[in-house]
Amino acid sequence: MSAGGFALEPIETASIDELRSLQLQRLRRTLAHAYQNVAHYRNAFDRARVHPDDLHSLEDLQRFPFTVKADLRDNYPFGMFAVPRDRVVRIHASSGTTGKPTVVGYTATDIDQWANLVARSIRAAGARPGDIVHISYGYGLFTGGLGAHYGAERLGLTVVPFGGGQTERQVQLIHDFGPSVIMVTPSYMLAIADEFERQGLDPRACSLRVGIFGAEPWTNEMRREIEERVGIDAVDIYGLSEVMGPGVANECLETKDGPTIWEDHFYPEIVDPTTGEALPDGEFGELVFTSLAKEALPIIRYRTRDLTRLLPGTARTMRRMQKITGRSDDMMIVRGVNVFPSQIEELILQRPNLAPHYVCELTREGPLDVLTVRVELKPGLSHGDGAAVAGAQTALAHAIKAYIGVSATIRIEPPGAVERSVGKARRVIDKRGR
Ligand code: DLL
Repeated sequence: MSAGGFALEPIETASIDELRSLQLQRLRRTLAHAYQNVAHYRNAFDRARVHPDDLHSLEDLQRFPFTVKADLRDNYPFGMFAVPRDRVVRIHASSGTTGKPTVVGYTATDIDQWANLVARSIRAAGARPGDIVHISYGYGLFTGGLGAHYGAERLGLTVVPFGGGQTERQVQLIHDFGPSVIMVTPSYMLAIADEFERQGLDPRACSLRVGIFGAEPWTNEMRREIEERVGIDAVDIYGLSEVMGPGVANECLETKDGPTIWEDHFYPEIVDPTTGEALPDGEFGELVFTSLAKEALPIIRYRTRDLTRLLPGTARTMRRMQKITGRSDDMMIVRGVNVFPSQIEELILQRPNLAPHYVCELTREGPLDVLTVRVELKPGLSHGDGAAVAGAQTALAHAIKAYIGVSATIRIEPPGAVERSVGKARRVIDKRGR
């Protein structure tokens, strides 16, 4: 089997039966490992009156309790580890917005498997040994930089470990080193493209062929925008630190139809976010993952808060997830209507004179919620042209009312006025207080 003349791993094209049987065998081992070695899991399983031996089929997993972010925080820093601390060779942590960071750990074998899965992801995105990859995901406690780095080296790429920030130099090195692949958040890719133009360079003329974008939600409209602007294929990489880091799922270049979940390592479920009830494939809900081969931090039924649905495999046997619509954390409730930043993003990108830099601000006027969308004009368009600005404002407000059902105040800002991030973009600023 080949993808562009490059051999896939046998499991990527194994039969569904083969895949399910591997999952069942690995799931049994993981549940036993978690139960025997992590007090939190032993207590949680005992409370739910389930035992690893109760798992006879993959469906039986539904009887086991969920794990949530708070469980990791409550066991801060190393209480969720299932191996002695001296077998842990790497720690990562996510800062989150409040309280203690979430800490995750890896054995040497975990790091090795992670590198393999990211290598598989990068290959699925169309990169090949010998390519140069420019990595702009942050290095450090965030899993993006080092996760991408080890995978790219494993696949045999030449790695430029730039990390986030210093946008001017990013552009210089992309220009001088000629990478064909870039790994970065989609929002920061846009800032890099802007910087190309600021330096008088045409981003379409640069050496890049493929971008592997993730760590934050981005729409298909954003994909088209980036592809046209930079002249590349834009492919989606998904992951989260609690489950591993980048490379839990990755889109295949040949189909670009939502990330393929590497199901030999992560068992996905979709549950109703309110009741926790498991939902059939095809239905929208919250994505839940169980790791199938992790040693240091086995994770059982982890509630990701990411909203999507499971779809049948296309380019691979394994199932896909639809591009993430948003996180339940980012959902804004505006006068009773649920709104995701991604819905606003789609509408902004449909307007030819608006740039894809935006932020949603929530305030209160008396008892009422007010949603203000701050968005920029495309570079080159004059902010002095009052009629054009007013037209863009009215058109976007109309579209938001018609398609989403909420009234929004639109503030059209000059290019550069909306804060740029060098990593994950912040799309919602809630100033309502509680
Ligand atoms: O963001 C890992 C990662 C790094 C993934 C680089 C891809 C590329 P965390 O910081 O733990 O880990 O954040 C995980 O980010 O639950 C999603 O809400 C969001 N996220 C990650 N990838 C995507 C994606 C990394 N492709 C959280 N689409 C997840 C939408 C994503 N959201």
